[in-house]
Amino acid sequence: MTGATRLRRIGVLTGGGDCPGLNAVIRAVTKSAITEHGLEVVGIHDGFLGLIEDRVQPLRFDDVSNILDRGGTILGTSNKADPSRFVVGRNPDGSLIFEDVRDRVMATAERHGIDVVVCIGGDGTMSGASRLVEKGMHFVGVPKTIDNDLMFTDVTFGFDTAVSTATDALDRIRTTAASHHRVMLVEMMGRNAGWITLHAGIAGGADVILIPEIEFSLAALCKSCVDRSEKQKAYTLIAVSEGAKPIGGQAVVDQVVADSPDPIRLGGVSDVLCHQISERTDLECRATILGHVQRGGRPTPHDRVLATQFGCHAVKLVTGGEHNRMVAMQRGQLTSVPIAEVADRQRMVAGDHPLLAAGRATGASFGD
Ligand code: F6P
Repeated sequence: MTGATRLRRIGVLTGGGDCPGLNAVIRAVTKSAITEHGLEVVGIHDGFLGLIEDRVQPLRFDDVSNILDRGGTILGTSNKADPSRFVVGRNPDGSLIFEDVRDRVMATAERHGIDVVVCIGGDGTMSGASRLVEKGMHFVGVPKTIDNDLMFTDVTFGFDTAVSTATDALDRIRTTAASHHRVMLVEMMGRNAGWITLHAGIAGGADVILIPEIEFSLAALCKSCVDRSEKQKAYTLIAVSEGAKPIGGQAVVDQVVADSPDPIRLGGVSDVLCHQISERTDLECRATILGHVQRGGRPTPHDRVLATQFGCHAVKLVTGGEHNRMVAMQRGQLTSVPIAEVADRQRMVAGDHPLLAAGRATGASFGD
């Protein structure tokens, strides 16, 4: 694939964890590629796995009708299939055997006449794509993740829906916290970034917001809860990121997924804090881990609009020959950045982010 003139067929895949709005991007890519540019589109199943195992299907206009508001991905996804380090078995001692299967991926793309692949994913997917670019494949990336932690884009689709779900949970937990005069912790996803918790915490009026970027002091946290119970309101609502950690401490690991390129799964910090706070104070505590409920379900209108913009812009990059770049939104403008620069990197909440100041100004504690 050397120039826009030869372009005939594009592939589309969804990689990494699923996220509300994936189907809206698949729809936008497919419809705009067909109607605006007369291209053929094929869907690749389960992310890079579909290219490794040759599972590809044509996507026609009607195949992507009525999916704009549907959660998940009609193509399926995988967060384990890195073609340059693919698990092919186990050694006698149980350790995994990895193989570079990028040539299998290239062969599948060639067999199906795929000129460019639109890969919809997070930092892991962009990293898989950039290692295939080294072999000569062509990609255009679309930034996806509820975590909102991709570099060089102010926002990813799926984030707004996750924030909305988490805020709804805080609203609901507040009434039960107030009724029982309890300390209630609500644990949110986000890996090592606190975007979901920060936004939902502000939107839901959480009294304490714990994010990975600001290490918390257990003593300060307990004091906030006790102060509230004595002086103000007899309950405390705490929004806590799964990656939150105490000063000088580590995040709580829920499990290690050995065959995943990013094996650490965080989770459980709210349970740990629940016991620690109740041991150190006389307050009654409960923890709720929201988990994958934040990833499922219908995308918000905001995410549907963003996903549609991203999908259409991706096709523009494809047809304009601007390959191996990822669509990005910067200061409200659609743009693009090199995929290689996004790979394997995460965007964190900066210490001078205005929402931190707004949170503090409206009485929230960050546990520091
Ligand atoms: O990156 C999205 C995300 O939902 C993170 O917020 C979370 O830490 C992780 O994926 C969970 O991964 P899995 O679906 O493999 O449990």
